[in-house]
Amino acid sequence: MAQDATKQNDSRSGLFFSEPHVAGFTHRAFTKAMGFDEEDMQRPVIGICNTYSELNNCNSHLRELAEAVKRGVWQAGGFPMEFPTISLGEIYLSPTSMLYRNLAAMDTEEMIRGNPIDGVVLLTNCDKTTPAALMGACSADLPAILLSGGPALNGNFKGQMLGACTDCRRMTAEWQAGTIDDETYKEIEGSVFRSRGHCMVMGTASTMNSLVEALGIALPGNGATPATDAARIRLAEQAGRRIVTLAQEGVRPSQIITRQAIENAITLVCALGGSTNAVVHLPAIAGRLGIEIPLSLWDEISRRTPLIANMRPSGQFQMEDLHFAGGIPAVLRELLPLLHGDALTVTGRTLAENVANAPIHNRDVIHALAEPLQPEGGLSILSGNLAPDGAVIKQSAATPALLQHRGRAIVFTDVEDVRARINDPDLDVTPDDVLVLQNSGPVGGPGMPEVGILPIPQKLLKQGVRDMLRISDARMSGTAYGAIVLHVAPESAIGGPLALVQDGDEIELDFANRRLHLYVDDEELARRRTAWQPPQPAFGRGYGRLYLQHVTQAPQGADFDFLLGNDPVKPMEQPKF
Ligand code: FES
Repeated sequence: MAQDATKQNDSRSGLFFSEPHVAGFTHRAFTKAMGFDEEDMQRPVIGICNTYSELNNCNSHLRELAEAVKRGVWQAGGFPMEFPTISLGEIYLSPTSMLYRNLAAMDTEEMIRGNPIDGVVLLTNCDKTTPAALMGACSADLPAILLSGGPALNGNFKGQMLGACTDCRRMTAEWQAGTIDDETYKEIEGSVFRSRGHCMVMGTASTMNSLVEALGIALPGNGATPATDAARIRLAEQAGRRIVTLAQEGVRPSQIITRQAIENAITLVCALGGSTNAVVHLPAIAGRLGIEIPLSLWDEISRRTPLIANMRPSGQFQMEDLHFAGGIPAVLRELLPLLHGDALTVTGRTLAENVANAPIHNRDVIHALAEPLQPEGGLSILSGNLAPDGAVIKQSAATPALLQHRGRAIVFTDVEDVRARINDPDLDVTPDDVLVLQNSGPVGGPGMPEVGILPIPQKLLKQGVRDMLRISDARMSGTAYGAIVLHVAPESAIGGPLALVQDGDEIELDFANRRLHLYVDDEELARRRTAWQPPQPAFGRGYGRLYLQHVTQAPQGADFDFLLGNDPVKPMEQPKF
């Protein structure tokens, strides 16, 4: 059945394998060296972009999924070729994985662009791997399906459900407060993460790997099917089969991830009480397709979208429970009146068609639109003289009383300052004060680390205090909770008003009016601005220097300015001899 490999077809791989003279000869000969023959080379080549890494626990099972994707690709008449890209592990990477998200996106884009592939399955899981892969794939704009590795099983300690890493923080606070002993703390450490997969509360990975279903770029079931469930392997095989058709039909991410699809994704995030990190990642993904998402759109959608998923850290349940309740298809079905149901997805059907018959098995987990947990979504956008370009709060995970709060600022100039002083018994701090962290944004962090959840001072923990109003230009983990204002823009390291706050200033969070106000008059602020000095750049060379020169602010997605937009891949071009 082998065909003449020199016969030209106009796919990227077809042109590559059928080039005349020595170019085609070497392309075929070196592929045959791996044990493939000319019949294989007649098939569409499907890249499997794998972020497997042992330095990324959440992605350490992706080899098995890659094998299942390959089976699907072969079954559908494709030729799978797996390749690695940078893997960003939330736990191991220093100073923060976010510093490298754009680097990973560049790696993904250029590997797609440079290799003779006709379509790609993006294998991701941990927080940054999903947006990075999507950003790169959107810029390359070659047919793509995203398949994540899935959430880990629920943690369990003596019958009590645990979730990473909501309970990592909660239990550490209890241990610091002296309410649990060293031995119990150690036992919990071995019980919180029971299996492969990503963090199992509605953290950043759960949010991103769920919202790709609403974007239409992942198959239904991607968000909540547990990493260790056989259904996840079947999903991988289906993705392998489906990408071959998408490659043959030439359906590109730009035809899937439209403005309507992005609005669908924001609606889902609001209904799930999803991670604030989505407010940075989604604009970065959209920006690669030339779509601007103003922060005001988040607030507009959040106000009309009820919180219907009862998920930690805002609610009670975790991803395994959501899977058994019907998963993301069930949530999307409930949300259909608020969605653009006619948006096209990678299944070849519309979003509404995908979820039309999705069963909802547990109304404690997925509430009805008419009986929501909260009438509005979990996230909101704030503005005011302290955040002229906006800030984000996850009010669904905050102590309600702190949402209308005015207090005295206790200012920390950076993370080191927090470490040095937060537990100092002499720190002049009360539960009504507002903890302010500067120099932790995209430039100042650098990399906008997840340090927005400033620890409660130990002396207040011992008094029973578990939440305080905290404000910074940093991000926080999606698994975190509390009255925490994040992503303040412009950030302090480039001279945003946050840089001018001093100990003792009064700050007010007026959530009802979405307002964040610094009670210092303009004259005094102008005086302070004249005296202000920017911090020393964190890097003088290498990738870090490139990062500092080109990173945008949080509302623009903290992408690099030169990566905005896309440049769809063309047929392979190589110098000919
Ligand atoms: Fe990877 Fe939490 S550490 S998702």
